[in-house]
Amino acid sequence: MFSFSSNRFAVDLGTARIRVSKSGRETIADEASVIVFQKGTSTVLLAGDEALAAVERTPRHAEVIFPVQEGIVADAEAAATLIEHLLKKNNKGRRPSKFELTLGIPTGLTRVERNAYLEAGARSGASKVELIETTLAAAAGLRLPPNDPKAHLICEIGAGQCQVALLSMGGVAQSRRTRGGGENWVDAIQSYVRSAHQLLIGAPTAISVKHVLANLAPPDETDPPSSLLVQGRDLITSIPRSLKLHSDELPSVILPQAEKIAQVIRQTLQGCSAELTGDLVDRGILLCGGGASLKGLTEWLAAYLNCPVHLTEDPELAVIRGLSHFMEKPANLPQTGD
Ligand SMILES: Nc1ncnc2c1ncn2[C@@H]1O[C@H](COP(=O)(O)OP(=O)(O)OP(=O)(O)O)[C@@H](O)[C@H]1O
Ligand SMILES: [Mg+2]
Repeated sequence: MFSFSSNRFAVDLGTARIRVSKSGRETIADEASVIVFQKGTSTVLLAGDEALAAVERTPRHAEVIFPVQEGIVADAEAAATLIEHLLKKNNKGRRPSKFELTLGIPTGLTRVERNAYLEAGARSGASKVELIETTLAAAAGLRLPPNDPKAHLICEIGAGQCQVALLSMGGVAQSRRTRGGGENWVDAIQSYVRSAHQLLIGAPTAISVKHVLANLAPPDETDPPSSLLVQGRDLITSIPRSLKLHSDELPSVILPQAEKIAQVIRQTLQGCSAELTGDLVDRGILLCGGGASLKGLTEWLAAYLNCPVHLTEDPELAVIRGLSHFMEKPANLPQTGD
């Protein structure tokens, strides 16, 4: 159990974003989950948002590492360096002398995968590391009453994974995790533009297309389709070219990933008692995680599943807010099953 005396930090280490909060304060860092090393060394050239700006532009002597892949820490050393970098950046360039960490972890990790989080925390310099499942953290972050006997279903859509948990009385009754989240939409947009328009576009461009143009809502008869000008490299001539993409090209491109998410929700509900499932008809399914902000997704899921679905406020911040809550109130730490 944490002591109350030392510095405490909560970290939501995601595939796309890393968020850090400090005991007694709000979120102190919200940056890209990426780091650039000098090749073959542990020297950090860039980290966080600055490193993101360099992705796809790095010279040969630099190596870009995304420490989290498909929702799970894949490189504990790089994850530790990234955490340490953000702690230093928010502490006048110096690592806090003694600190403890609360780290969010996906549901259903193997022992080896859990150890990667413990290793990342310890290598970052933490004297103690506590792990909390992110779906439980999200429930706390959304201020769901912990001892409510009625069920809540949370669907957390990140960049690299989608997690669904049916929560009852502060515990997990059923949960599922699948690889692939918001990043799958980015990949789908890139491959669509490549095959339909013979144009190679970078991930940052595809992310803009997803945020600005992609929409699962049925087209509004009165509104013409919107469009976005994108730049890329022509597949045939290799010459830079721009292209006007239209919103009505995208629904079929983004639909398969939405169906995958709906499938995970269905699988979580199978195996639940009728009583628990019945609670959801009153309460609805709560969407959180940055990927849940995809336009029209909430309405599409509600129609597809024939059940109320709600997009929560600041969906990308639910997990870090919940981790902060448990960091502040260690006595309320939930059991994660082992
Ligand atoms: N307005 C938006 N429309 C569509 N997608 C969005 C929007 N805003 C953010 N996203 C997506 O949300 C994702 C980031 O969400 P989040 O920070 O919850 O993920 P993460 O924690 O890094 O990933 P994971 O939990 O899967 O490891 C990115 O894929 C991003 O493109
Ligand atoms: Mg996440």
